[in-house]
Amino acid sequence: MVSFLLCLLPALLATTSAQISPPATLTCKTCFGETKECSFVPGTCQDNKATGGCLSVAEVVKLDGTQYTFFYKECLNTYKSDIEVPISFTVGNGQYVRINTTRCSNADNCNSGTLEVPTGSTTKNGLQCPTCFALNFTVCNSSITPCTGDQTYCLDFTGFLKKGPSSSPFQAKGCATESVNDIKSGDSLNSAVYGFVFTEATSKPAEKTPTPQKTTTTTKTTTTTKTTTTTKATPATKTTPATTSGASPALGKFSFALYLPGLTGLLLVKLLS
Ligand SMILES: *[C@@H]1O[C@H](CO)[C@@H](O)[C@H](O)[C@H]1NC(C)=O
Ligand SMILES: *[C@@H]1O[C@H](CO)[C@@H](O)[C@H](O)[C@H]1NC(C)=O
Ligand SMILES: *[C@@H]1O[C@H](CO)[C@@H](O)[C@H](O)[C@H]1NC(C)=O
Repeated sequence: MVSFLLCLLPALLATTSAQISPPATLTCKTCFGETKECSFVPGTCQDNKATGGCLSVAEVVKLDGTQYTFFYKECLNTYKSDIEVPISFTVGNGQYVRINTTRCSNADNCNSGTLEVPTGSTTKNGLQCPTCFALNFTVCNSSITPCTGDQTYCLDFTGFLKKGPSSSPFQAKGCATESVNDIKSGDSLNSAVYGFVFTEATSKPAEKTPTPQKTTTTTKTTTTTKTTTTTKATPATKTTPATTSGASPALGKFSFALYLPGLTGLLLVKLLS
């Protein structure tokens, strides 16, 4: 791998010096793929060294029955997401989002390393959260679910889930890594297949799973909040086109999201052939 990069370097330098490049330019690796080799459309991109950076993402997402695993690298100026650290959450029925991500700006091609997809631990950690996932204003019928691994927080999100050109309102509750605290109302989170826009985002430390000594204790009725949060999401539908502060991130993300299904299609064709 290193020797391969060394071979590439003179070529890269030649390309950059051929252009009248501004002095403070950062070069990053670009690629896309369903395996960590990230071998589809390999290339490079240029960032402003002062403000930009290189991104690498390894993710596995399952929200509609299909598990998608993707790896990609790109310049941060083409990627707008408010989430800068690895994040994982589980919203029940085998549905989850697990994103490993790094950013760097210390050296050209600093994102050439390989990231691992976060492995979903199945080891219960003694904590629990109300858990549900609902699309298109269906009821998010939550049930208390044990948390696993490093998912020690409970999330409660409403927003929009974008997949290609379609945008569906969603509500999600479940166990999450502590990094879920970084997600605030109005933030967006990008994955290769989905884009999330969170209209409401709250999270709190998960509660301990009660030790099973009492037989008939049902103290918490967290499901009762579902109707109110569902209706709260309704006005947000109208405000979406007029999103002001989030406008440019949304565009950056959206163009990327539009770009990817095409690549996915090509990959599938490649895989099927
Ligand atoms: C992300 O990838 C790195 C490099 O392979 C790995 O060491 C790390 O454990 C991964 N992080 C998560 C959250 O999976
Ligand atoms: C939700 O609505 C979107 C857009 O109208 C549609 O494409 C999608 O299939 C719907 N999803 C479900 C689970 O009903
Ligand atoms: C919610 O889920 C529980 C258990 O899965 C089920 O018994 C109940 O009928 C569901 N309620 C609604 C409104 O779907």
